[in-house]
Amino acid sequence: MAQQVRGVVARAKGEPVRIETIVVPDPGPGEAVVKVQACGVCHTDLHYREGGINDEFPFLLGHEAAGIVESVGEGVTEVAPGDYVILNWRAVCGQCRACKRGRPQYCFATHNAEQKMTLTDGTELAPALGIGAFAEKTLVAAGQCTKVDPAASPAAAGLLGCGVMAGLGAAINTGGVGRGDSVAVIGCGGVGNAAVVGARLAGAAKIIAVDIDDRKLATARGLGATDTVNSREHDPIEAIRELTGGFGADVVIEAVGRPETYEQAFYARDLAGTVVLVGVPTPEMRIDLPLLDVFGRGGALKSSWYGDCLPSRDFPMLIDLYRQGRLDLDAFVTETIALDEVEKAFERMHHGDVLRSVVVF
Ligand SMILES: NC(=O)c1ccc[n+]([C@@H]2O[C@H](COP(=O)([O-])OP(=O)(O)OC[C@H]3O[C@@H](n4cnc5c(N)ncnc54)[C@H](O)[C@@H]3O)[C@@H](O)[C@H]2O)c1
Ligand SMILES: [Zn+2]
Ligand SMILES: [Zn+2]
Repeated sequence: MAQQVRGVVARAKGEPVRIETIVVPDPGPGEAVVKVQACGVCHTDLHYREGGINDEFPFLLGHEAAGIVESVGEGVTEVAPGDYVILNWRAVCGQCRACKRGRPQYCFATHNAEQKMTLTDGTELAPALGIGAFAEKTLVAAGQCTKVDPAASPAAAGLLGCGVMAGLGAAINTGGVGRGDSVAVIGCGGVGNAAVVGARLAGAAKIIAVDIDDRKLATARGLGATDTVNSREHDPIEAIRELTGGFGADVVIEAVGRPETYEQAFYARDLAGTVVLVGVPTPEMRIDLPLLDVFGRGGALKSSWYGDCLPSRDFPMLIDLYRQGRLDLDAFVTETIALDEVEKAFERMHHGDVLRSVVVF
């Protein structure tokens, strides 16, 4: 029977989010209902609320979550009730042109639940990134559940479901950071600081963290940044070049999602270097770069969707590294909060007070 639970809903553009009663159907074929144990507050949730993603209000927010599978629908074999899972927004289809060419990390037809969760009056909800986990229970496609070692705490593990994976993967997968590389990360929130950690895991020799907030830079240093630049006080392009023998970094990761920081990344990169855009821009943003510089500086301008991750490959591996003490996921959990504190958490995020606020149930 369909269940009624509490969830955090954004009703209209810019309006504060509210707790609403939502209706979660029983899982149909290929679906699972997950009892959410923890869900981080990501900047993308705020983008949804601000109307920056699309206009399909009302949204059921939350998408960085871990929990326990409660029930599964017909034909589900990959997970079973009781499994401890991280929710992902890349349940690969195996059939699209990307999957068929052996590049499932780009899957263009990822699975979400077919049925809709609704408000009690029947209004269909659009779950953030097909997840909607600021809710006591949520309905997803079974492929969105990735089993991991239950010894990892839900607050830490859930973060791999979006921001931390996006940052780690921007460095390791998209940026292809390797031993000895110089890396700069512009914007050191949850995503950018995860890129710092990814660069360190991959063996970067120099990791330059750039932000406008000294608190974020202090965290970056603790997580492995070798140098920090406050870009309110210093020109980040000059500073990054100075720190890299006058040349620029091999890989520059933009984790803000703004034209001016993208331009900084573009010019702070060495010749033939790589720019990785992981920050999500809004529809009105534009960049204007001399085409000659695009050509003349060479290298690669890449975008990173979800850190080019493959959840089934990357989540269990990263949880193993966490368990071995080689990946400090706990450092990203600034505070744990209750479900009705998401709006306040948006404010704290906006003021830069947190890396991640995590709702625990
Ligand atoms: N590509 C993906 O798959 C993916 C996944 C998750 C999140 N994101 C995006 O990544 C971005 C960062 O997310 P987050 O959760 O870390 O957000 P956040 O708000 O925690 O962090 C943003 C950081 O950027 C800094 N910043 C702001 N303006 C700056 C400037 N001009 N120069 C330097 N630093 C500046 C802030 O001080 C803050 O530390 C967002 O755009 C988010 O939507 C992308
Ligand atoms: Zn596919
Ligand atoms: Zn996210």
